[in-house]
Amino acid sequence: MSIDLGMGTASAASRTGCATRRDALRRLLWLAGSSPLFAQGQGRNAPATIYPPSYSEEVMGPVNVHEIEEVAKKKVHPLAYDYIAGGSANELTLRANREAFSRAYVRRRVGVDVSKIDTSLELLGKKLEFPILLGAGGAKNLVYPDGDRVTAQAAAHTKAIYLTGPSDWMAKLQGSPQAPMWWAASLGFATKASAEAFARRAEDAGASAISVSVDYPYTAPRDRNNRNKFDYAWVQTGIPADAGKSKPRTPAIAGMIQAYTPSLTWNCVDWLRGATKLPLILKGIVTAEDARLAVERGAQAIVVSNHGGRTLDGMIPTLYALPEVVDAVSARIPVLMDGGIRRGGDIMKALGLGAKAILIGRPYYWGLAAFGQVGVQRVVELLHAELRVAMGLAGIPNVASIDRSLVGWYTEPLPVNG
Ligand SMILES: Cc1cc2nc3c(=O)[nH]c(=O)nc-3n(C[C@H](O)[C@H](O)[C@H](O)COP(=O)(O)O)c2cc1C
Repeated sequence: MSIDLGMGTASAASRTGCATRRDALRRLLWLAGSSPLFAQGQGRNAPATIYPPSYSEEVMGPVNVHEIEEVAKKKVHPLAYDYIAGGSANELTLRANREAFSRAYVRRRVGVDVSKIDTSLELLGKKLEFPILLGAGGAKNLVYPDGDRVTAQAAAHTKAIYLTGPSDWMAKLQGSPQAPMWWAASLGFATKASAEAFARRAEDAGASAISVSVDYPYTAPRDRNNRNKFDYAWVQTGIPADAGKSKPRTPAIAGMIQAYTPSLTWNCVDWLRGATKLPLILKGIVTAEDARLAVERGAQAIVVSNHGGRTLDGMIPTLYALPEVVDAVSARIPVLMDGGIRRGGDIMKALGLGAKAILIGRPYYWGLAAFGQVGVQRVVELLHAELRVAMGLAGIPNVASIDRSLVGWYTEPLPVNG
């Protein structure tokens, strides 16, 4: 007997002795389909099983983002792992970002036709297949050679928007299939001239928007880096073999004060608005007051973000800040969020609380560190698939039909596990 599962046949799988995991999975599904236990709802008209894109056995090994992180941790230098994984000070906010998701529960509905699940959306005039963006972040060379460009290739492949700085190589990619959709990301400007120059570079290199992270006046104390005597020069070069033996040139030291954009004010928004027609996104807003100011100043989107717990320790987890910001904005501009998202179900909760889309940071770094370009792709595709299944299970056929009634809150904290 031969049953078509859309990707080959079960009989073909048995002929080859279930050589691969996918063959084994197909066989299992076939067996499940023919079991009386599974007979209900598995009729001829049942929707087809949708298989994810497939990579090597190694890449398909880890079953979730947490396990991809485990692979990455084994592959990268421990100092690089700490740099990426770490947060500031006591890492309260880093942990709280994750914990917030375990305190939010889903009010699942039934009786809704979820045979088609549509995760597509329109964001700042662009049609996207899913609400997952690759957040801004430097130091990718710590985990993979030419990491920024490799991530851009993965973004182009998956059609995820990528936040990164303008570069010559990105400018050269414009118009080619390897060009991702990307937002020019910056930590802000102290002068009008530098803001204008950035806007020009972003336009020339083909950015579809500009994202300014407004939350980085100073580098926060990062105990892991200080303990490791992390040399900031490694952010560009990667970690040398003799790390820890030679004297670091620009070491992280407890108690140092490292200014970044301390003089950034709302003027920066005016400068950029005057310099470019590209949409302007402000990343790092967590209060209603700042959200209202952002709208008044002409920002076209906001990212609720605490920099993944890497700036001010003790500040509000982003899932908690999201509803306040969404209410203050009252649908005038899209509100995105990031921080602690590790599962498709997390994304669904964020959408339930009013996020138009979410960004990931560390998860795609782990994909990059573990498997390079396909690792980033695997992370995006896995989260997208998890989101679709979560929506299907929650009775949500499309992102437009998600609203706040989806989310309830546990009053007692649950242990964070995952
Ligand atoms: C290694 C690393 C570097 C980062 N660098 C930047 C940056 O230069 N600018 C920025 O706006 N955010 C930066 N971020 C923050 C991310 O854009 C994002 O807000 C955060 O990682 C989301 O939290 P998550 O890692 O839990 O997904 C960085 C994050 C990491 C992990």
